[in-house]
This record gives sequence, C-alpha cells and structure tokens, in this order.
Amino acid sequence: MTSSNSLDRKSQAWSALFSEPMSELVQRYTASVFFDQRLWRADIEASLAHADMLHAQGIISAQDWADIQKGLAHITADIESGQFEWKLELEDVHLNIEARLTQLVGDAGKRLHTGRSRNDQVATDVRLWLRGEIDAIDALLSALQSALVEVAEQHTHTIMPGFTHLQVAQPVSFAHHLLAYVEMFARDQQRLSQVRERTNCLPLGSAALAGTTYPLDRERVARRLGMVDSHGVAQVCQNSLDAVSDRDFAIEFTSAATLCMLHISRLSEELIVWMSQNFGFIQIADRFTTGSSIMPQKKNPDVPELARGKTGRVVGHLMGLITLMKAQPLAYNKDNQEDKEPLFDTVDTLKDTLRIFAEMIGGQTHPTTGAKEGGLTVNKQRMQEAASKGYATATALADYLVKKGLPFRDAHETVAHAVKAAQASGLDLSQLPLSQLQAFHPAIAQDVFEVLSLKGSLDARQTLGGTAPSQVATQIARHRQRLANHAR
Ligand code: ARG
Repeated sequence: MTSSNSLDRKSQAWSALFSEPMSELVQRYTASVFFDQRLWRADIEASLAHADMLHAQGIISAQDWADIQKGLAHITADIESGQFEWKLELEDVHLNIEARLTQLVGDAGKRLHTGRSRNDQVATDVRLWLRGEIDAIDALLSALQSALVEVAEQHTHTIMPGFTHLQVAQPVSFAHHLLAYVEMFARDQQRLSQVRERTNCLPLGSAALAGTTYPLDRERVARRLGMVDSHGVAQVCQNSLDAVSDRDFAIEFTSAATLCMLHISRLSEELIVWMSQNFGFIQIADRFTTGSSIMPQKKNPDVPELARGKTGRVVGHLMGLITLMKAQPLAYNKDNQEDKEPLFDTVDTLKDTLRIFAEMIGGQTHPTTGAKEGGLTVNKQRMQEAASKGYATATALADYLVKKGLPFRDAHETVAHAVKAAQASGLDLSQLPLSQLQAFHPAIAQDVFEVLSLKGSLDARQTLGGTAPSQVATQIARHRQRLANHAR
C-alpha cells in the first residue's frame, strides 16, 4: 500500500471541484481498499459483463471492448501473482482497478464507467462475492453433516442418557443425539440457499441512484453473471434507489450464519461437557486441544471453546449490520462501506469453524488407505453407566403400567413411589426384586425387567423420529440419500 502525505486531488476520480488536499487521516478514515480488495475478482467479472453489454448496445466500440478485456486480464494476472500495487489514495478496490486499467489501455479504461456508478458497482460486487461464499459454505455444511452421519452409523446401539434440564431423562442412542445436529445443519443449508436466491440479483444498471440515460441491457449483464433463477430468467433489481442501498442480503446472510454458529456453539458446549472428567463420554483428538502452562495433567478443549466464543463475535456482526441500516435514508450512503468487515469476518469465521468441526468429528482421510482417522473417540461404557444411573427407565415403567390398563397419571404416581424407594436403597429400578416392585402395583410381572433394561427402553421408542435403533437407521439412510442428491 502506498500513500503520500497529503493527497493530490488530480490523482482522484473527481478532481476539479476541490480546492484543498485531503489530510492523511481523512484518507485513511475514508478508504476501504485495505479490506475491500478481497472483492477484486467480482469487481473484474462485473466490469467485464458491463463492458460486454456497453459494446453490444453500441455504447462503446469493438476496439474499446477488446482493450478493456486485455487490460483486465493483465490486472487479473498481476493481482493473482501479488504484483498489483494497491494505493490508499485511490480509496477502494473499484478506483484502484479502474485507474490501473486506464494506465494500461488509455481511453477505453475511462469509458468503462459509462452508465455505471460505484454505488451499483459495489452492491453488485458484494452480491457476487457472497454468492460464491454461500456455495463454499454449503459444501462445508454437507461435509460436516456427512461426518456426523458417519459417526452416527457406528452408534445406533450406543446408549447414553438423554437429558432435559441437564438431568438424566431417558436413554437415547449416541447416533440419535448426533442426528439432532444433522437436522440443525440441514436447516442451515436450506436457509442459506434461500438467502442465495435473494442475493443473486443484479443492482448494476441502477447507476448512482436514478438509473441512467444510456440504453443499457441489464438482463444481458445479469445473464452473463449467472444472476438467473432456476428457470434461467435474469434476476435484476427493479428499483434503482433500492438496488444501490439495499443490504438486506448481507443481514439475512449474517443472520443465517449466526444461527449456524449458534448450532455449533450448542454442539461445542456438549462436547466440552462430554469430555470433562465427570462425564468421560468422549475424547477429541489431541490436535484440537491444548495443555495448561501450569497444570501438567490438563488437556483443554480449546477448539470447541473457541467456537463457542466466536459465536458471540458473529452475533455482534449481525447487530452491527442491523444497526448500520437502521433509519438510513435512501439511497446510497457512505455508511454502507461499513458492511464489508463484519460480512467478511462472518464468512471467515463460519468457514473455518465448519471445516475444523467436520475434521474434529469425522477425522481426516488417510492419504493412502483412504480410511478416516483421528475423529471422536467414544467411551460406550461410560455412556451406558451414566444412563443406568438417574432412573432413565422410569418413564418406560409408567408406559408398561399403562399397557396393563392403568391411566397414565396413576402410572406416573406409582412409578414415582417406586423411584423414591429405589433411591432410598441406592438401587436402580431394574435392581429391585420383583416382589418389591409388585408391592407398588400387582400388575407388575416378570416381563417388567425387559422394559427396565436400557436396551428395552431404547428399542421401544419406535415413533417416527424416535430413538429406537431401527428408526435411527431409517433416518441415517434418509440423510445419506439427501446429501447425495444435494451434491448432484
Ligand atoms: N467503497 C465504497 C463502498 O464500499 C464504494 C461506493 C462508494 N460510493 C460513493 N458514492 N462514495 O461503499
């Protein structure tokens, strides 16, 4: 980045009107090129689409169109190889690229901005860039879901306590628990695809705010940029004032990202609890943990903890963007330049988090054997032990009595007495002798022990979406099919 002490107005795009130079502080304060240079590829793509259309409409010559293509190819190569010199005094990505183009190809470069403003240009660039990022996030969400499904497949019979109020409630399978997260990430994916639809709409051609006097073909530009619906119909923003000022898509995206991070934070919290010594249900691979500088025995779940923390950061970005737009008058205002850093950081945070979670849960693919290794380690025995404490099968006993003819409320009451007695003698319900159980209700017979076993309780929950292994296996098959269709 180069910068002179005070800016010579002649190097700017708007020289004639101004009588004093801009101070370096104001330059730094107003410039966005430090961060918006990441939009360069979208900026060039959109400029090519605009210039192609200007040529097709007879607004610029074939020679100008050829020069613009040549110049932008040159700039692309320079940026890719790190040779491009970004200049602070040229304020943003748009003016940097345009100035260099003019330096390279002369007047054709100066004609590129015909019928265009940075207001419709930046709105187009951000939408194009975000569309690509949504596609990348979509793929990462699929990978994370696949990792969860793969682990679930191995644990349809692994019994753990299901909790409500973080108190042992009923036995569930570990697979069932993991699939709850697959549902959440599937909804995230669906939400993002809806955000993508509204993002994929063209502001360019709105010019500064009111449209332009040139005979632009906006639909041609939209088609070239892939801004079309599922039937191939060009998607063009229909009101020029709205087009240059709308940032709904950024807020919607960040909101969808926030929900996704929120899901990650819930999973993080559970992983952290599960790997604490008191639970001991799982371990995550060492490479996702760190030690303590003072306590030699410690292995801390830094990655899930950070993900939990970074959720707050994304929530903050959402609040920032909402506040940025609140009560903003039409049309473009410079406030909108502040949309970029929160949006960029949201994308970076979400992508990194999804990538790291897919690997932490599913492991890495071994380069030669192709086998997955280094994912979650599951301690089935600890899970089972925890499920056997806490009277997780009490509801099963109540259901048993209902099947013997008792009204549910009476069965509930009867079992509460049984649990109280079992607690007093420090035993599980299944450890009470039949004679003692029968004292609570004469309908209780030998077959009660099948119901009081964890496995019996699990197998019996056959409702659609329930925890019975056969149901969970059906869900696994459905998710596999869904993920395979999505990839196509
Ligand atoms: N860097 C600006 C932004 O990000 C580009 C648009 C500038 N438009 C203007 N009228 N100053 O919003």
